[in-house]
Amino acid sequence: MRNLARTSRIAFAVTGIPGGADDVEAALLRTRLIEAAKEFSGRNGPRPLTLTVTNQPPGGERPSGSEAGSGAGPEPDEPSIAERARQFTATRPLYTFDRLVLPERTLDQLLRAVHTVEQRRVLFDDWGLREIQPHPGSAVNLEGAPGTGKTLAAHALADRLGRPLIAARASQLESKYHGEGPKNLAALFHAAREQGAVLFLDEADALMSARFETISQGAEHAVNAMRSEMLTALDHHEGLVVLATNLVACYDTAFDSRVWHVRFPAPDEAARAGIWRRHLPDALPLAEDVSPEGLAGVDEVTGRDIRRAVIDAAAEVLRTGQPRVRQADLLAAVERIKAGRPYRTGPMPMAASGGAG
Ligand SMILES: Nc1ncnc2c1ncn2[C@@H]1O[C@H](COP(=O)(O)OP(=O)(O)O)[C@@H](O)[C@H]1O
Ligand SMILES: [Mg+2]
Repeated sequence: MRNLARTSRIAFAVTGIPGGADDVEAALLRTRLIEAAKEFSGRNGPRPLTLTVTNQPPGGERPSGSEAGSGAGPEPDEPSIAERARQFTATRPLYTFDRLVLPERTLDQLLRAVHTVEQRRVLFDDWGLREIQPHPGSAVNLEGAPGTGKTLAAHALADRLGRPLIAARASQLESKYHGEGPKNLAALFHAAREQGAVLFLDEADALMSARFETISQGAEHAVNAMRSEMLTALDHHEGLVVLATNLVACYDTAFDSRVWHVRFPAPDEAARAGIWRRHLPDALPLAEDVSPEGLAGVDEVTGRDIRRAVIDAAAEVLRTGQPRVRQADLLAAVERIKAGRPYRTGPMPMAASGGAG
């Protein structure tokens, strides 16, 4: 470990990945090194620790300044990509697939898209498909209304692949400094690569939108710069990228071949029953009359509404000193949530196909 300490924090660059390691080995080693460093920093007081794990350079040379983020990088107020990448830390996925309720068809679409992205080296390089498609799909875009399970799905996918997850929002990449966005985006992809992580980028429509005709030249320039960085990053990235958008936005056609779109529908009645069922933990004291099928009769609610309703109902039961959560408590909570919405958006878009997964 080379200590790159500044006064306020401890930073290490570890060139711990053997040059010949393949992606999977490298990811494993990286995860272990990061885990070990986190454990170490936990035992050694409150000072924040930042860690960059890089591949050993071929021939055993020392890593270049910019790669390792050593002092020899750019100006102190102009951090290198590797230094910027430290703001993005991979975490263990929070959810597994068995928590996710989607129509069979959507689930199938999702898993196929992920498979194609994961196997693109075989398909497009080994099997020559790059001849007919030079820009193969390298990201899966989850589209759907807020609260329909997109974030949950991103975690579940990382869990399924046995990888950690780096989650970021497009708005987080912007900065008060002009032109920082593309560098932060590059750093985000760098961080995902270094940590062997699935990259989850929320609010991704902001990065992929088609040309605006009406905005000012400066803003137009910034949007274009982000979009080109996004295209470059997608083309060069090997790992899985999961994007999420609330809108079916107007994407630049350059993303057509690069992004697989999977539409997350609002849950129908069968799906709502499944979601209610998964949101009633074993330890929750439930009255006999609680029935997920009955609760599913309340329509125009998302999975997120259901989660809130269960928590609200449980809190209310505890507050009023009742022994158990009854069906009526859950129904009252979900109706409160529906009534408390700031505005009604009309019926939510439903799946073309029925049936919950
Ligand atoms: N399709 C779904 N299946 C199961 N639970 C869901 C689903 N959609 C939403 N939820 C519940 O609502 C929570 C918030 O959903 P989230 O994934 O953040 O939605 P989004 O990212 O689409 O806004 C989830 O953690 C889960 O508890
Ligand atoms: Mg989300």
